[in-house]
Amino acid sequence: MKLAVLISGSGSNLQSFIDDCARGALPAEIAVVLSNKPEAGGLARAHAANIPTLVVDHREFESREAFDAAMLEALAPFAPDLVILAGFMRILTPDFIAAFRSRLLNIHPSLLPKYPGLKTHQRALDAGDSEAGATVHFVTEELDGGPPVLFARVPIEAGDSADTLAARVQLREHQLYPQAARWFVEGRLELCGDRALLDGEALPASGADLDTI
Ligand code: GRF
Repeated sequence: MKLAVLISGSGSNLQSFIDDCARGALPAEIAVVLSNKPEAGGLARAHAANIPTLVVDHREFESREAFDAAMLEALAPFAPDLVILAGFMRILTPDFIAAFRSRLLNIHPSLLPKYPGLKTHQRALDAGDSEAGATVHFVTEELDGGPPVLFARVPIEAGDSADTLAARVQLREHQLYPQAARWFVEGRLELCGDRALLDGEALPASGADLDTI
């Protein structure tokens, strides 16, 4: 299976895919990495792994629709089977989502449905939560609202800042995201209506727990 990974930043999640593909833990090929930011650190990670890269800079387009159309055109020659949003910080249009419907995954740094959107770690701290985490979900038109696939919990510790918590959550993201992709690549995971199915069975509404699979 061919993957396209979309990034905007440092690409530590991308690195977990590169590493798992290289050691055979994820039986797939990263066909292309696309960034909307020319300065994204993840591009260097892709270059180091000899993965083709694309930069489609959103600032060069006058509308979200035009930007997404340009991304679709740039990705088309790579014919990805699965599109991985890995810290891709643009909201996608319905046309883009429709083009990859049922084969578009995102990772969000909270235990969804809690804290969709930004500043998730600070919001969890402000709420006095005892745990945080990350969730991989199928992407639908609803922002961070598509069916959850897999989540990992992380304890919130006394003295945590948003940064220390984010670092702890990210370590788990790097296990979580390739595992969800592995299910898809193995043909075990699918989107059916508004539910994610694993081996033909509906996953729980909040997804499966990485610690109990
Ligand atoms: C991750 O924390 C992810 O959950 C969020 O953006 C961050 C991307 O980090 N959506 P990286 O670029 O993969 O290091």
